[in-house]
Amino acid sequence: MDDFKRREFIRLSAIGFAGIALQLNSIATYAQSANAHFGKWNNDTNLNWDAFLERLTKLAKTQHQSHWNQKLYTEQVKQLLLQCNFPEFENIKKEIEAYENKTPNWFEAASLHREVDFQVSLFQFEKGEYIPHHDHPDMTGVINVVSGNALAKNYSIEEQLSATREIIKNGRKEVLQKCAIKEVGNEIIKRGDVSILNAHEGNIHSIMPNEFTQLVDVFTPAYKADTNSNWYTVNEDGFYMGRENIFEAEYINKGLSEINTIKLSRRKLNRYLGSYKMNDKNFLKVFRKGKAIILERTPSLDKPGMKMNLLPYEQNKFWVEGQDIRCAFNIDNKKIPESLTLYIGKTSITANKIK
Ligand SMILES: [Fe+2]
Repeated sequence: MDDFKRREFIRLSAIGFAGIALQLNSIATYAQSANAHFGKWNNDTNLNWDAFLERLTKLAKTQHQSHWNQKLYTEQVKQLLLQCNFPEFENIKKEIEAYENKTPNWFEAASLHREVDFQVSLFQFEKGEYIPHHDHPDMTGVINVVSGNALAKNYSIEEQLSATREIIKNGRKEVLQKCAIKEVGNEIIKRGDVSILNAHEGNIHSIMPNEFTQLVDVFTPAYKADTNSNWYTVNEDGFYMGRENIFEAEYINKGLSEINTIKLSRRKLNRYLGSYKMNDKNFLKVFRKGKAIILERTPSLDKPGMKMNLLPYEQNKFWVEGQDIRCAFNIDNKKIPESLTLYIGKTSITANKIK
């Protein structure tokens, strides 16, 4: 064995098998980048995950241009998605293999990559699970169907209507705002198809799979802590004022909604304090700061996380301030919380008390 080969051999042995796999991956990425550099990369080139991310990172930077052409961008992302065989990618294979239907009647979402400029997520739906009408404020979304098929409907805001109505729900006065939305897309998307929305066109959508369905979705930019998505109730019985493809819809105007809080004594509040575990990567800490009660979501108990104010509206029940999330403490017969449940839209997650 000459010197060079021996050195390589020792290096490879030290890195071990996982290292080799990573090396091969980076060699493949390097080869793909080099091919791109020499003009050998075209729309038919099959990309691997790293090359996909590299290309997407570059494309997503165009959002910072003064006149970002979202139509061009989403078309480019579509082409990029079509060059990827996602179920073959190691990271996605792992997610798919680890799939468990943890939230019945609601899809499972997994983050594949996230940075400020964009995020890539995998959504998996059981037959019968669907995402009702919702929007993506100031974002674009490009969805690639990996398996199954779904009815995708897209709408654009046509006009905000002055009519509102109030309802009281879970101790909160909700102001429902009416608007008129225009259907701009209504199609069955199947394996290999791509569905697009941007900030101005088709931004409200619903996805109704007809069977077990998996989607890879690129959001640009990524969701932020203050991304304020709305859920819409759409009256699909007929057109609004007889106007073709225009429907009346309603959403909660959060700015006008109010929470009727109740006062809880310090002794009562103290009962809820402690640490709660959702899973190995998600913990919730409940603590007091003066008179306020705070919920902190963190990946591990010794790390800081996102802090949210809890507003009591009933015994053992709180709203998360400024968000569409409720927190209910589940009390045992000694009046001690054994877990807490977060209600987020139509889904819920329970975390057990650990200390
Ligand atoms: Fe969506």
